[in-house]
Amino acid sequence: MLRTHTCGELRAQHNGQAVTLTGWVNRRRDFGPLIFVDLRDRYGITQVVVDQTIHPEAHAVLEQARNEFVLEVVGSVRMRDEDKRNPNLETGEIEVVAQTVELLNASKQPPLVVARDGNEDETLRLKYRYIDLRRARMQRNIILRHQTIKFIRDWLSERGFLEIETPMLMASTPEGARDYLVPSRLHPGEFYALPQSPQQLKQLLMVAGFDKYFQIARCMRDEDLRADRQPEFTQLDIEMSFVEQEDVLRLVEDLMTALVPAVTPHKRVISPFPRLTYHEAMERFGSDKPDLRYGMELVDVSAIAAESQFGVFTQAIANGGQVKGIKAPGCGGYSRKQLDELNVVAQAGGAKAAATLAVEAEGVRGSIAKFFDADQTAALVQAFEAQPGDLLVFVADRKDAVAGGLDKLRREFGRRLNLADPNLLAFGWVVDFPMFEYNAETGIWDANHHPFCMVNPEDVDKLNRNELEGVRAAAYDLVCNGYELASGSVRIHDRAIQQRIFDRLPYTPEEIQRRFGHMLEAFEYGAPPHAGIAPGIDRIMALLCDEENIREVIAFPKTQRVEDLMMNSPSPATEKQLRELHLRIVEE
Ligand code: AMO
Repeated sequence: MLRTHTCGELRAQHNGQAVTLTGWVNRRRDFGPLIFVDLRDRYGITQVVVDQTIHPEAHAVLEQARNEFVLEVVGSVRMRDEDKRNPNLETGEIEVVAQTVELLNASKQPPLVVARDGNEDETLRLKYRYIDLRRARMQRNIILRHQTIKFIRDWLSERGFLEIETPMLMASTPEGARDYLVPSRLHPGEFYALPQSPQQLKQLLMVAGFDKYFQIARCMRDEDLRADRQPEFTQLDIEMSFVEQEDVLRLVEDLMTALVPAVTPHKRVISPFPRLTYHEAMERFGSDKPDLRYGMELVDVSAIAAESQFGVFTQAIANGGQVKGIKAPGCGGYSRKQLDELNVVAQAGGAKAAATLAVEAEGVRGSIAKFFDADQTAALVQAFEAQPGDLLVFVADRKDAVAGGLDKLRREFGRRLNLADPNLLAFGWVVDFPMFEYNAETGIWDANHHPFCMVNPEDVDKLNRNELEGVRAAAYDLVCNGYELASGSVRIHDRAIQQRIFDRLPYTPEEIQRRFGHMLEAFEYGAPPHAGIAPGIDRIMALLCDEENIREVIAFPKTQRVEDLMMNSPSPATEKQLRELHLRIVEE
């Protein structure tokens, strides 16, 4: 090694020692004959000082040094004067007096200031990601990611799980997103698909007898990006044989409960994790991934609203919809403008608008107050257990729009009223998901999660009668602080049942044979009962690192437009490459 210590290592106990440090210039302060340099590596920052009168050659090098120059400093450790100590720096008690300094490499003027967590345009950060990654926040996130994955690997290995890799060049899987396709050179006109998840392969590994499998698995999905979605992401993929739903939930709950304090001791987890059925989650929170750090549950006031004189409410109910609301404590004084903003929030959730009532000592105030008589008003106030000063916010619409609108409003008030403790990880299980999902645009019923989920035994009759809406799957999600962290299910291991599910889905028999024939066949060779789950590593990391966007916990993420600005991808292929792949680009 070129160094004897790292830049985060030296303390008072090293006083007087001869040391060699290497690192980048984080900051440089030039006081003429005295120059101070904060030398940085991934372990920390150490102050280096040179005195021209004693070490003129070292001084000459540091005079030329600029931010992000790479240096090797040979010197000795000395205590800083009492009043110069920096309690914010782990090495803040000492400094290194440089005797010789070697310039290992220069740097152009960097486009980003590493010492400052800048709020410059993100495209600049992504183009110069290798500089951005030098920043303390990014280093912390990437290091924590390593520690988290290492913890998971060790924890599962200790419990008998085997990590098994599965291919990247695969066939299409039905996870619901668009595939990334890779053209085959040897098979003209044919394509591999990059895995949206190792779903089928992990089930086939169960058939192969590897009864406890996991993988830190890369997944690729060509879908619209959001703060919690990247086209390439990482799952902790898990599958187990001879287990029931309860075993999978317990395993993941134990893992999360052990992981969080081990890697982020300042975070709190409440266990056991509460469990909600999908139906209950939608009714109480309007979301299948509710933020459970605070209450503010949805209250169904349809019965009261139906009796009122307010046309919007009565009409919504007459059309088969409902009227529900939430109580925003202390927001009764909202201005006209603030109330209008709530409409925009509700609209983002798919509702038409939000109606409000401010609760006062004597009844309620607001433009719709006149549509409720005294009894109805009292009933509303009681339904919400509201106090004077509270704001009641209603959405009247179709059931799904009411849920969507109030979910957004609940999250917005959670933020505004600081209801969500950032150091609390409020995990919860959402169970009993519907097996099928209706697509209103296409008029087609498809698998809600994927077609390999076991149907709830109580709902098999409904399946047989083709009443798809009420059929529940043995499928579950792990949610935390308003995010879906993991999805999984007990799988079908019986060919006949699997065939029956496929028969209900929008695939032709040829398509089923082509896409899933191997699964159906495998189920004929002794498939064990099995179940699994896949937590998203990037989302877990975002929560552990207090980041809003998963880009901040991925070393080299893509932009919103799915570009890599540093490597310049995607980019055109050469004529030769296209020819070899039997492809021709057609201008639209
Ligand atoms: P699912 O599609 O729900 O299930 O994905 C599981 C988890 O992966 C994460 N995730 C993502 N993270 C970042 N960017 C994305 N684009 C993205 N898509 C999904 C989420 C999600 O909860 N094979 C099944 C799992 C199973 O049944 O075992 C699957 O992939 O955290």
